[in-house]
Amino acid sequence: MKRFEGKVVLVTGGNRNTGIEIVDLFVREGARVFMCGSSAASTAKGEAILRGRGLDGFTAIPCDVSDWAQVQALFDVIAREAGRLDILVNNAANQGLGHGGPLEMKPEMLWDVFKTNLVGGFQVTQTACNRFFMKQEPNPATNQRGVVVFLGSNTSMRAIRNRTAYVTSKGGIDALVRSLALDLGPLGIRVNEVAPGYIYTERWDALSEDVKARRRLNCPLRKEATGGDIAEAVAFLASDAARNVGGERLVVDAGCSAQHMPEDVDF
Ligand SMILES: NC(=O)c1ccc[n+]([C@@H]2O[C@H](COP(=O)([O-])OP(=O)(O)OC[C@H]3O[C@@H](n4cnc5c(N)ncnc54)[C@H](OP(=O)(O)O)[C@@H]3O)[C@@H](O)[C@H]2O)c1
Repeated sequence: MKRFEGKVVLVTGGNRNTGIEIVDLFVREGARVFMCGSSAASTAKGEAILRGRGLDGFTAIPCDVSDWAQVQALFDVIAREAGRLDILVNNAANQGLGHGGPLEMKPEMLWDVFKTNLVGGFQVTQTACNRFFMKQEPNPATNQRGVVVFLGSNTSMRAIRNRTAYVTSKGGIDALVRSLALDLGPLGIRVNEVAPGYIYTERWDALSEDVKARRRLNCPLRKEATGGDIAEAVAFLASDAARNVGGERLVVDAGCSAQHMPEDVDF
């Protein structure tokens, strides 16, 4: 029996980088998966990559998670095609790159990032609860109606430079996860977070070997995560094995958060 046989899963931002590996894992583990990118073109591109891997058993629907109407339309498709939802993975993120430092960045950039990372994650979660989780019979193995996993970041606790909007939004996700876990837990909805550190994404392809090596030296385990590593952590929190884990932040950063200073400046 596969780990997620019979489960219906939604992965936002499931069309590239980490999100696509999360979709890949759930499909291979037997789930019926729905995924979205923010636009028709980006979603179709992700769908083609997944189909190219020989994967079936998923539906790709464009949805800008910051747009309430598009979120409702996404859930209309899930209602029509699956009629239920068991697991929501809020992975979509605006990285807030290129906004400049806090002295020059336009204040509205905060909103630009928050509307995807915080408002988007919240309204997808609220819709999942009201349209599916609250109407479903609890899973007999856990007595829970639904599971939510957010993607946060280790930068919410140890900030990175010139990413004010992103870092602040990820701090908001930490608080949002705790708040939702408290209010939704008694209703049988389990909410947690995976907080990654470095992940190898297509953005790493543009880095020099020196920069990659320096980043790896910053990791006690000497290796950035792959999308697959993050997908495994998401799968654990989404699984029945984590049935008593609520409001938790699972850091997956090769030990970076455990250190005060990286090795080459720690004399
Ligand atoms: N990469 C890292 O090193 C790292 C480190 C710590 C935490 N994280 C977190 O881990 C998660 C995955 O990271 P990643 O680097 O793989 O992300 P990414 O490469 O930046 O991809 C972001 C994904 O979110 C989607 N997205 C963005 N805005 C959206 C919107 N308004 N509506 C729907 N989808 C939207 C994108 O779709 P489009 O293709 O349509 O733009 C894309 O699929 C994110 O939550 C990120 O913050 C990443």
